[in-house]
Amino acid sequence: MLKQDKAYKQAIDVKTELETWVNDLQQYLKPEKVHWCDGSEEEYNQLCQLLVDKGTFIKLNPEKRPNSYACFSDPSDVARVEDKTFICSRRKEDAGPTNNWMAPDEMKKIFNQLLEGTMKGRTMYIIPFCMGPVGSPLSRYGIEITDSEYVVTNMRIMTRMGAHILPYIYEKGYVKCLHTIGAPLEEGQEDAKWPCNPTVKYISHFPEERLIISYGSGYGGNALLGKKCFALRIASVMGREEGWLAEHMLILGVENAKKEKTYVAAAFPSACGKTNFAMMIPPKEFEGWKVTTVGDDIAWIHKGKDGGLYAINPEAGYFGVAPGTNEKTNPNAIASIKENTIFTNVAITPDGDVWWEGFTKEVPDGLIDWHGQPYDKNSGKPAAHPNSRFTAPAYLNPALDPDWDKPEGVHIEAFIFGGRRSTGVPLVYQTFNWNFGVYLASTMGSEMTAAAFGEIGKVRRDPFAMLPFMGYHMGDYVNHWLDFGRDLPNAPRIFSVNWFRKDKDGNFIWPGFGQNVRVLQWVVNRVHGGAGAVESPLGWMPRYQDLNWDGLDFSEEQFASIMTIDREPMKQEMFGHEELFEKMYDKLPKEFFYMRELLLSALWRSPEKWSLQPESE
Ligand code: OXD
Ligand code: MN
Repeated sequence: MLKQDKAYKQAIDVKTELETWVNDLQQYLKPEKVHWCDGSEEEYNQLCQLLVDKGTFIKLNPEKRPNSYACFSDPSDVARVEDKTFICSRRKEDAGPTNNWMAPDEMKKIFNQLLEGTMKGRTMYIIPFCMGPVGSPLSRYGIEITDSEYVVTNMRIMTRMGAHILPYIYEKGYVKCLHTIGAPLEEGQEDAKWPCNPTVKYISHFPEERLIISYGSGYGGNALLGKKCFALRIASVMGREEGWLAEHMLILGVENAKKEKTYVAAAFPSACGKTNFAMMIPPKEFEGWKVTTVGDDIAWIHKGKDGGLYAINPEAGYFGVAPGTNEKTNPNAIASIKENTIFTNVAITPDGDVWWEGFTKEVPDGLIDWHGQPYDKNSGKPAAHPNSRFTAPAYLNPALDPDWDKPEGVHIEAFIFGGRRSTGVPLVYQTFNWNFGVYLASTMGSEMTAAAFGEIGKVRRDPFAMLPFMGYHMGDYVNHWLDFGRDLPNAPRIFSVNWFRKDKDGNFIWPGFGQNVRVLQWVVNRVHGGAGAVESPLGWMPRYQDLNWDGLDFSEEQFASIMTIDREPMKQEMFGHEELFEKMYDKLPKEFFYMRELLLSALWRSPEKWSLQPESE
């Protein structure tokens, strides 16, 4: 058969298989209607209007926030549900110790019961979508089937979606994403404003079948299946098999005053400010310096022919945490949400605009809170849910990188890892090499906040910030990273940062936000061999004089206070790594035991309070 004929046959095969899948599901799920999404603006507007008619969407004041909507979710459906998230690999050991596992047959038995007739009274939407620049060899394709108009509208912002994606799907194949809110509508029954199944939820992944089935939730990562489910959990499995990396990382470009550009990817656990970092505006003293956004949450990283690493952002929008976002903390996010945005679980002002904690200092009068009720300022409760979100298109971001949609991706020269740590971990250091960097990222921990489940303030080990998003065994993943770095002729440098160190009164010491560019400048200069550093027990550290302090009143003593390495807490930190090691003992790279020993003995041999001065002067 000629090559062309083969491609044609494959396209017909995929098309037939897709149509059969859709027909079978239609018989089983029993929707009232089936709608193939074309991705047009007209379709988007019609669906938004339908949601307004149903009472789900509230149209915001077009003079304040054109073409934008707000909605309130069911109080049972406000965040990802990690305890109901499953990796259903055939073998339990492939899911590893950090994931919930269920055998595929067992999970499908549950779904066989739950799914029959689950779309009754609703429309079944078929969404063809692309993760990454359309047509790029680094992109991958998906079909999401859903009975939620909220999902369709959000997917149109978050992905490249519509009929124009189908030819690529026929040629390249696709990941099957089935989503239902699990709330069939009986005849004559009035629909809820936020229909979902308040008690039963399953977010399940079948990596070998490239299949996702999500039941019961209509919110964020549980329902917009291109994001965490596909672009991280399933894609991490694809990446391991095909030799690339799917990472929970932002990608940004840093341009210096000489217009030289360096791309950096950074992994911070949820709610550590990835979106703010990706959209940062340097202070005015950094004349000519510019930070541009490629992505704020996910990076797919491939090896290029030249041995460099190239990354794309598989998404096309931002599903950002609203609280704390304001003109000061993130002016580019504020510009990105000025129109064409969907807000979920924020508060609404009397003049039909949005509000959340930290948006303005003063709480406006007459707010409607995220329950849809008049807000009582004295209630002690927030008006917006702490995990309330904006879904905003990337093209509105004034700092969007000109190459963000480039099919070959952008060249990554540094990785940054960081958690939220109020003590112990210094502001910044560079790890000794790739392997130490992988060790650092694998043992990364963060103090928990509202967005992640768990006890607030407690340190949760979150390797590579991927703990909730891994599609396979965490030990295999760490080995994949080590292998990936072995043959890189000029591997990206790896750095640790911590913006969150506090003084004894509990105040953050580092000003953060736009000031983080000072750290970024040192990182970029290190990459290009042009910044000073001293060796510390953990890695290479900048001295006070190695950072640019123009325009910031930050003393040498203050700097020293966020750069000290205190032996005792650091030792405890390293003993804490044991817990993780034990969990994945059989797959843990041998190097890790030695690296930990090396780090521990370096700590033993250094002063109790290792500091940049006077010892290092
Ligand atoms: C997110 C998360 O929503 O990481 O991006 O939780
Ligand atoms: Mn995230």
